[in-house]
Amino acid sequence: MKLILGIGGGIAAYKSAELARILMQNGHEVQAVMTSAAQKFVQPLTFAALTGRRVLTDLFALEAAIEHISVAQENQLLAIAPATADLLAKFAHGLADDFLTTLYLAFTGPVVLAPAMNVNMWQHPATQSNLAALRARGHCIVAPESGYLACGMTGPGRLADPQAIAQAIEQALSTSRDLEGETILITAGPTQEPLDPVRFISNRSSGKMGYALAEAAIARGARVILVSGPVHLEPPRGADLIPVRTATEMRDKVFESLGPTTIVVKAAAVADFHLSRVPDQKVKKTAARLSLELDPTPDILAELGRKKGDRLLIGFAAETQNLQAEARRKLESKNCDMIVANLVGTAGSGFDSDQNEAILVLRSGDSISLPRAPKREIADRIFDQIPKLRLALQTAK
Ligand code: CTP
Repeated sequence: MKLILGIGGGIAAYKSAELARILMQNGHEVQAVMTSAAQKFVQPLTFAALTGRRVLTDLFALEAAIEHISVAQENQLLAIAPATADLLAKFAHGLADDFLTTLYLAFTGPVVLAPAMNVNMWQHPATQSNLAALRARGHCIVAPESGYLACGMTGPGRLADPQAIAQAIEQALSTSRDLEGETILITAGPTQEPLDPVRFISNRSSGKMGYALAEAAIARGARVILVSGPVHLEPPRGADLIPVRTATEMRDKVFESLGPTTIVVKAAAVADFHLSRVPDQKVKKTAARLSLELDPTPDILAELGRKKGDRLLIGFAAETQNLQAEARRKLESKNCDMIVANLVGTAGSGFDSDQNEAILVLRSGDSISLPRAPKREIADRIFDQIPKLRLALQTAK
């Protein structure tokens, strides 16, 4: 495959030559791009000799007029080793003042970052928050190793082993477009159930998990239909967004969109009860006490379970206790292929958080524990299960 190896200006730049050699050996076409700082540590000639191609260094070279765009379009993956603190900061904030940083912004495929720097620079809150932003964008970070550093200090900061970086690149390439051809219907956010023209019942769902799923699915090549309750989030680029408000509206839009769908992911926190008949006028504060009589909303997931056909159905379970047992009960009763179970409330990762932890409960009887990670990473781990779920569905027929 065709990939880009970006080299930042750090002492570890010389180890990138070994990485270039491994990638060539693995059968890839490697386009090396060096920052001007990188060229102070290693000559471009080293990479030109190893990759058999001209090394790109200068945004303003005459022949490079819009080359960062064509290089971005022609290649399947962008790997950066070493990713310096400066490069991480520029990528995190979208600064683009040389070939590599403009290339990063123009590139839409998977990105693998292998940072290397002094231990204090690595641990600095600025670097850590840039890393969190890059992780949340779905980039793979190959964590630096601990050990003796060129600056004389000991601790994390040493570039990961080139073999380990090459392995992360292979892994990212194998999942990069694995959902191509799938149409994934994702529901996200809360629903709002009106009590009168100005009031409603809702819940604390932020929609972040559903939106992270939509982003991950799009990045992996799927078409995404996102049926979303009211949230304060930017819709992911490339998703077909269908905004809804109530559980009943969500049900109707889900079934209208089901035709071309191959996978349904029900991340929405649907209200379980609503007022069947909503008063036309605002309820006044006249009575000493107000009782509400609520009726159940349609259980969309259960209805999908009955009508799913060959589609894969992934449900969510938000529980405050008995996580696994409740998740398995929901999997059976709603005929799902997998349930993503979250502990919520004081014991859990909390709503509105950018992070989550979950247990994946599969029809096969397996359960997989996903430790606390950015929601975008959890989303990718959920989609990693698709081949296994499809195989289980086919063998069950
Ligand atoms: N769900 C749904 N329609 C509803 C309620 C829930 O489609 N009216 C879906 C959610 O999108 C989620 C799953 O069902 O994927 C589980 O939601 P949860 O609220 O955890 O479970 P409930 O089925 O409501 O069961 P309980 O309230 O007893 O925990």
